Order: sequence, then structure tokens, then C-alpha cells
Amino acid sequence: MSNPFSIWPQFGFAENPYSNLNLPGDTVGDRLLVGRDQEVGQLQRRIGSMGTHPTVEGPAGVGKSSLIGVACYRMLRECVRAKAGTLFLPVPSMQATSSIAEFETQAFFGIAQAMIANVDAFRVAGLTVPDVARLNNWLNDPTFRQAQGSALGFGAGGGAAPNTSEGFASSGFPQAVRAELDRCLPGPGAGAMVCLVDNLELLQTTSEARTTLEALRDRVFNLSGTRWVLCGSRGIVSRARSERLSGIFEAPLRVGPLTYHSSLLAVERRLEEYGSDGAYAPVPPKSFEFIYRALNRNLRDAMAYAQQFSEWLYGEYIVPMEPLPSTERRASLLATWLADLADAAHTDARGIQRRHWQFFDQLAEAGGTCRLSEWEAYFSRQQNMSNAITALDEARLVSRSVDPDNASRSMATITPLGWLVYFHRSRYGLPSHGANPTVDDVPDEASDPS
Ligand SMILES: Nc1ncnc2c1ncn2[C@@H]1O[C@H](COP(=O)(O)OP(=O)(O)OP(=O)(O)O)[C@@H](O)[C@H]1O
Ligand SMILES: [Mg+2]
Repeated sequence: MSNPFSIWPQFGFAENPYSNLNLPGDTVGDRLLVGRDQEVGQLQRRIGSMGTHPTVEGPAGVGKSSLIGVACYRMLRECVRAKAGTLFLPVPSMQATSSIAEFETQAFFGIAQAMIANVDAFRVAGLTVPDVARLNNWLNDPTFRQAQGSALGFGAGGGAAPNTSEGFASSGFPQAVRAELDRCLPGPGAGAMVCLVDNLELLQTTSEARTTLEALRDRVFNLSGTRWVLCGSRGIVSRARSERLSGIFEAPLRVGPLTYHSSLLAVERRLEEYGSDGAYAPVPPKSFEFIYRALNRNLRDAMAYAQQFSEWLYGEYIVPMEPLPSTERRASLLATWLADLADAAHTDARGIQRRHWQFFDQLAEAGGTCRLSEWEAYFSRQQNMSNAITALDEARLVSRSVDPDNASRSMATITPLGWLVYFHRSRYGLPSHGANPTVDDVPDEASDPS
């Protein structure tokens, strides 16, 4: 049965091969993940070695969530295969939230649900099986559900009861979960439930992130039988690790962009995964690499543009029932299409002053990221620099972030929209990596000062 509203069956694909959702932690994600063998190994060792909890950091859309999801899935699969009395079991990702009560509720519910859903994994791995009936009693108890509902978002209308941490702690549910953790995952050799706190940047200010994390330290991060992985975009994780937390969370594993070749492989694998014989790829691997280069290695956005181009092609050829363009024609159509988008984006940014464009172009040529302190010399006055960044930031061409190596320093980074505009400004040339490699080119663990 095929979905009549989807463009993909018409091209011969079961699903969108350019989806920009993170890869799932399952057999499909396992097949589709490319170019991350080293990072997967590093993350698995950090999870498996116990002690301080691992953290992961990298630019937006680079593939952090996919990496973690697939790395954890593979750990689970290994443990089930080995049947050696060790189990690392992923808990579905939790959203960072500044409400401690909400977070704690998410955590205990998530752990309980993952235990219930994976009873077989405990059995096969040779561990004591969780008491599903006991956990289910709590999860299905109407009064308890109503009280916790607002925190979990499923209590709309019914959640009149105030949901405080204290109320939750005294409900008996956390004790039940703790007891199961102690019973089923006794000691480090038995493994752990692996809990992921993703998108730490949602905790808007880092002081907020720090306060929340500190409050959670004794409530959840110290739970025996659990491992925690914090994940966030550039700078945020480093900054959130305060003095008090650095003994709890390890310095981040830095995730940089996939190489050009890996981006090509990523699409090749998806086309194979979802395509039938004779499928017509609107954006073949080589053309995808072109988009990926033009956007300066942002995988998430490159996928989104590939999807957008597919929709355009559908409207131009399939709707009027024209024969689809040949390989060469398709590549040149794509280049023109992207150039048109870039022109339009550049027109939208026409309010930017000439000297601010000069700074923007130099930043692009240097790789797209700079430490503000190192670029001050470029301006006659510090105020001018700050004006340039503000103007470019307001036009969404550049964003400010925290320097991962020094939380008190700021950085400026060209956004995906900014790279599209630069594609216009460089007369449709593809950006080079720049003379100064940015931190993201070198996933160097040793460089973290903490
Ligand atoms: N190693 C990989 N191999 C193939 N595809 C990948 C890989 N990593 C990421 N992707 C794809 O790239 C896109 C972005 O990945 P993901 O969502 O994991 O990035 P992220 O760093 O978590 O982004 P964000 O900062 O927005 O949370 C998704 O479409 C995902 O499927
Ligand atoms: Mg993510």
C-alpha cells in the first residue's frame, strides 16, 4: 500500500531517503550510520567504563543524536549476543528541561518503561528480570498518573494536582524503580540503563543548565544502575559542567562534521535502503555531496535541501507528466536551483552594510567560525565588531556561541542560511575549510582544559 500524498513512491522509494530526523537506535540506524566508527567506540567505552558520565558536544545538525542512538543500540545488541551477564539498555532520549520535578518524573518513567519493554533482554543477557507487574501497577495507577500527568504532558485538563518533586519522591514510585535497578543491575559489571539528555541548549542560559544539572546530581545522576549521557551543541556542555559537576560528567566527546566522502556514502546507503529496482534518485550521492559542500558540511540542512529539491522536481516533471531529466541535466538543474535559493537569501539580507559583508566574507574564508577576541584586530574599534556581529546575527547569517575551550569567551559561527548566502557571494564557489582549522575539524579529546 503506498501513500498517495507522498512523492517518494513516484520516484521508487518506500520512504524519504533525505529525512533529516536523527537515525533511530535500531537495525535501520545501524545500517545507515556512516563514518563514525571511532566516535562510536569512544562513546561506548566511556559509557561502559562507569565512573564519570560521558558528554557529547558538536555543532547543530552534525549527527550527535544519531551517533549516540546507534552506539547505544549496538551496545545493547552486543550484550544480548554475548549473554555474559552484562546489559547496557538505552532509555528513550529525555528533553533537557529546567523544571527539576518534570525532569525527575521523565527519568523515572523512562527507566521503568524501558525496563518493562526489554524484559527479554535482561533474561537473555543472564540477569534478574525486572518485576514488570510491580512497575506496571504504578504506571497504570490512575491517581498516580493524574498527579504526574502534567509533568509528562499527557495529563491535559486533568492534572490539577500540583506536581512537586517532594510529592513525586514520596509517592513510592521512585523507590520501586530504584529497587528494580538494584536487583536487576547489581554492581558495575552488570551494566546499566543508559539515559540520554539531549539538546542541552534548550536550557536557554547556561547558568540555568548548571543549576538544573546540579539539582539533579543527587536525585538521578547518582542512581545506581544508570549511566547518563549529556548532549548539546557547541559550547553548552563544556559550560554547563561546573566545578561541582566536573567530577560527575566527563569532558565532552567532540563530534565534528562528516567528511565529504561520508556524506556521499550516507545518501548512497539510504537510496539502497529505501529504493526499489529502477528507483530514480532526485538527488544522487554526488549531487548530495555538492549541497553538503555548499552548506559547509551541515548534514541536517543538506538533507532538508535535498528533500526540497525533490519536491521541486516532482512539481516540474511528475505533475505535468514530463520525462524525468537525465543524470547530467539533473545535476545542472540542482546547481541552478540552489543558486536561485542563494540569490533570494542574499536579497533578503540586503540591509547588511558593506563593511559587515567584508567581515562576513573573511569569516567564511577562514572556515566560518572565529573566537571574537582573536578577530578584534580586524576592526579599528571593538564596538564595530560587535555591531557587525549583531547585524549579521539579526539577519540570521551568523550566530554567537560559547567557546568550548573557554566558557568566558565568545565565538561567532556562520549559520546554514549564512552559508547559502555565501554561496551567492562567492559566485557559487564551494567553501574551503579555511586556513585555520576550527575545533570541529579536529575531534581532539586532549584539547579540553578541564
Ligand atoms: N553518521 C551518520 N551517517 C548517516 N547519516 C547521519 C549520520 N549522522 C547524522 N546523520 C543524519 O544527519 C541528520 C542530522 O543528524 P542528527 O539529528 O543526529 O544531528 P544532531 O547533531 O543531533 O543535530 P541537533 O544539533 O539538531 O540535535 C539526520 O538526517 C541524520 O539521519
Ligand atoms: Mg540531536
